[in-house]
Amino acid sequence: MTNHDNADKLISFLNSAHSVFHAVDRISRELDEAGFCALRESEAFRLEPGRSYYVKRNNSSLIAFRLPRKRFTSARLISAHTDSPVLKIKPSPIDTSSSAYSTLNVEVYGGLPLFSWFDRPLSIAGRVFTEGPDGLQEHLVDIDRDLVVIPSLAIHQNRQVNDGWKISVQKEMKPVLSAQVLSTDFPSLLSRQLKLAENVRLLDYDLYLYSRTPASVWGLDGEFISAGRLDDLMCLWAAFEAFKASGPSSYLQLAAFFDNEEVGSGSRQGALSDFLVTTYRRILSALGFSYDESCAAAASSMMLSADNGHALHPNYTEKCDPTNRPVINGGVLIKYAANQKYATDGCTASWLKSLMNRKSIKYQSFANNSDVTGGSTLGNLSAQRLSIPCVDIGLAQLAMHSAWESAGVSDIDSLLSLFSAFLED
Ligand code: CO
Repeated sequence: MTNHDNADKLISFLNSAHSVFHAVDRISRELDEAGFCALRESEAFRLEPGRSYYVKRNNSSLIAFRLPRKRFTSARLISAHTDSPVLKIKPSPIDTSSSAYSTLNVEVYGGLPLFSWFDRPLSIAGRVFTEGPDGLQEHLVDIDRDLVVIPSLAIHQNRQVNDGWKISVQKEMKPVLSAQVLSTDFPSLLSRQLKLAENVRLLDYDLYLYSRTPASVWGLDGEFISAGRLDDLMCLWAAFEAFKASGPSSYLQLAAFFDNEEVGSGSRQGALSDFLVTTYRRILSALGFSYDESCAAAASSMMLSADNGHALHPNYTEKCDPTNRPVINGGVLIKYAANQKYATDGCTASWLKSLMNRKSIKYQSFANNSDVTGGSTLGNLSAQRLSIPCVDIGLAQLAMHSAWESAGVSDIDSLLSLFSAFLED
């Protein structure tokens, strides 16, 4: 059997990270325990060499960094994204138009295969905002029990279901909440579920559905892991674990975890925002670097941007590139794209291969089939704001963006080894 200690730890992380806000909260709590000092963007950065810090934006993106004891001339950056494609609950969502049930009105966040959300237990997680004696407050919410289901239509009522089925999110994907016609509004219903005090009013929320199907390690040798949100919490977890465990080095070590990758990164807290560049500049400015010195340090730095990529699919081998055929447990993906959707080039990839060869870390190359449009990721977007040489990497997976994705157990170990080597080398 494949050793799955790290897969078990990843599953424990996934079970605590049912929304983007929970993922960032879990990371920040672990950083607190590890002695990192929390900074606020709204206050001046006061930093001491040899110490470690983190800063959040919107409670859905987070940058952590560890300062060397001595003055540094370059940085090592790792990045991943905190969000995954999900269904988001709209305002005023309770729909009783069937006259027999209460359903929830939802919309799609990111690109997801809709069929994968039918007929499985779902729940609700995210954050709510309340007003009460203590003023406006933000609270994490995870209902954490089987709460809603999106039932599919019986085959007898849709004989064409196996011939290709165009799904209307608005009509067909309203999750069923109750077998009654509810007369209450959603904030009141949530307030009761959350047992809010009488004098506390729920004003608004950012709430998402998540799959309750438990994560699993499976396969003849236990070589696969399946769960929701492996893209990109698998890479994020490995990056975070390696970053947390790393000791101080001669580099500025920085880990950036961005929200909103699945909707193009163009938000206040996404990879296209100024979060990374302002944090980087503020760190160097607080340490007394001149503008010129901080530009020189950026040019001497290196970044690994980690996001999952597609493995060769046994039933659709024609979708894969004919000569770059990444496999599950084949090691870390180095991702290439001529259109620069991946920031990797021959120079940065050679640098990384040299490191991985020295450390005996398995790797493989990923390129899109030339007739199949690929996705995009973080590397080239953050490089538009803070230009640091970058390699786009990831892990091979199947069923990307499904409610239950599959990947390789020993690939997690390869990625952890790479991040540790990269930060400390
Ligand atoms: Co991704």
